[in-house]
Amino acid sequence: MLSGGPDSVYAEGAPSVSPALFSMGVPVLGICYGCQLMVRTLGGWVSPAQEDGAREYGRTVTRYDRDDPLFYGLPEEAASWMSHGDYVKVLPKGFSSLAQTPHCPAAALGSAERRLYGLQFHPEVRHTEYGEQILKNFLYGICGAQGGWNMAGFAEEAIRGIREKVGSGRVLLALSGGVDSAVASVLRSKAVGRQLSCVYVDHGFMRKGESEAVSRYFSSLDIDFHAADARERFLKALKGVSKPEEKRHLIGAEFIKVFTEEAKALGSIEYLAQGTIYPDVIKSGQAGGAVIKSHHNVGGLPKEIGFRGILEPLRMLFKDEVRALGRELGVPEEIVSRQPFPGPGLAIRVIGEVTEEKLSIVREADAVFREVMEKGGAKGCADQYFEALTDMRTVGVMGDSRTYGRTAVLRAVCTEDFMTADFARLPWDLLAEASARIINEVNGVNRVVYDISSKPPATVELE
Ligand code: XMP
Repeated sequence: MLSGGPDSVYAEGAPSVSPALFSMGVPVLGICYGCQLMVRTLGGWVSPAQEDGAREYGRTVTRYDRDDPLFYGLPEEAASWMSHGDYVKVLPKGFSSLAQTPHCPAAALGSAERRLYGLQFHPEVRHTEYGEQILKNFLYGICGAQGGWNMAGFAEEAIRGIREKVGSGRVLLALSGGVDSAVASVLRSKAVGRQLSCVYVDHGFMRKGESEAVSRYFSSLDIDFHAADARERFLKALKGVSKPEEKRHLIGAEFIKVFTEEAKALGSIEYLAQGTIYPDVIKSGQAGGAVIKSHHNVGGLPKEIGFRGILEPLRMLFKDEVRALGRELGVPEEIVSRQPFPGPGLAIRVIGEVTEEKLSIVREADAVFREVMEKGGAKGCADQYFEALTDMRTVGVMGDSRTYGRTAVLRAVCTEDFMTADFARLPWDLLAEASARIINEVNGVNRVVYDISSKPPATVELE
């Protein structure tokens, strides 16, 4: 499969492929950029969509050629998810158009005889109806794959891999209390048992009551658990910094410093283990795409880390797969189904410079919003919900007096893999209650807005 990517096939330095790939007799599925690359390599024509009014973003009604094996079992028409700046204008010789949208005459194309296929839309995102069916048709029908991979096999292999790499060395795990690092800690502990020490760094950017809850839970388990209070030094490191990428890199650097110190204090630690997952890698631009956000644990890692090696066994998994692995390993459901929380925490939910005052506002307002969601029975309406604080100040009136306060943003999204997301259609009454309570109960906020952007083109977090 040739995946999508941020480039235009005509851009200098854009990824290319050897034409020989297409005459090897193996099935190929090009998705978005991959499709355009295949078309261009095989003598078709890709054109900037804007010039022809063919640019498409988001849900798009698509008509399928159901006689082609790629689209067996699909209805004649269904929604697909588009996100492209270029489009296929002229097909390579021997190819035919297998799907069409109002703006795209070849939303899918292929040569069944050569088993070469291209999709302009993204079958891998949940918003493409029947996307999974299309991928299944390609893998099981066209490629003849058997589907023998499963989580139990993955867990076994990962445990074996960790043991081989680590030997009798000691491992320090960066534990945030979130799903990824919790699953990673159980996996590591099954692999290396008492050679593992877990360190939780309290950077001061956790949600209300969270640090206490994390410490309580992990202290109750049979693992070597340590909590490091680093609140003051993180705030100091971020003083005067307002750019998101700079914040992320500084937080990453500070994290590593604290871990290195902790490791020294514990003595003879050789490996640093992290719960890095595949979306972190993609967004940090390390899977060949553009840097969207540097995750502190990927793009933010300083070159000199002071450990012999880093272990990241979840690096190839998406969030839903990490959850499945957690269940396979017997991690309790209340941890496995927890909402994700970014490593840099509230520091990236405070837009602009992070100060103690803004952190305290965001912490309180977020707690109120989550309580309203949970008490209002709306927990199931969104896969992730939180409050962020803009850097904007506006005028308001409270008790006949003028206020000049901050604006809180409520964000609630529906998603499966967090690579794409839609904003949750929350009931108005619930939003009204959250707004009234936040303005009444949180000092410094006089306006509340609800974020109604989907991802793409926005992202889930605001920074
Ligand atoms: P975005 O904002 O990139 O977020 O659409 C997708 C999911 O990833 C979480 N997120 C992060 N998680 N470190 C993390 O561990 C980070 O730096 C980070 N940034 C975003 C976000 O909460 C959402 O669930």
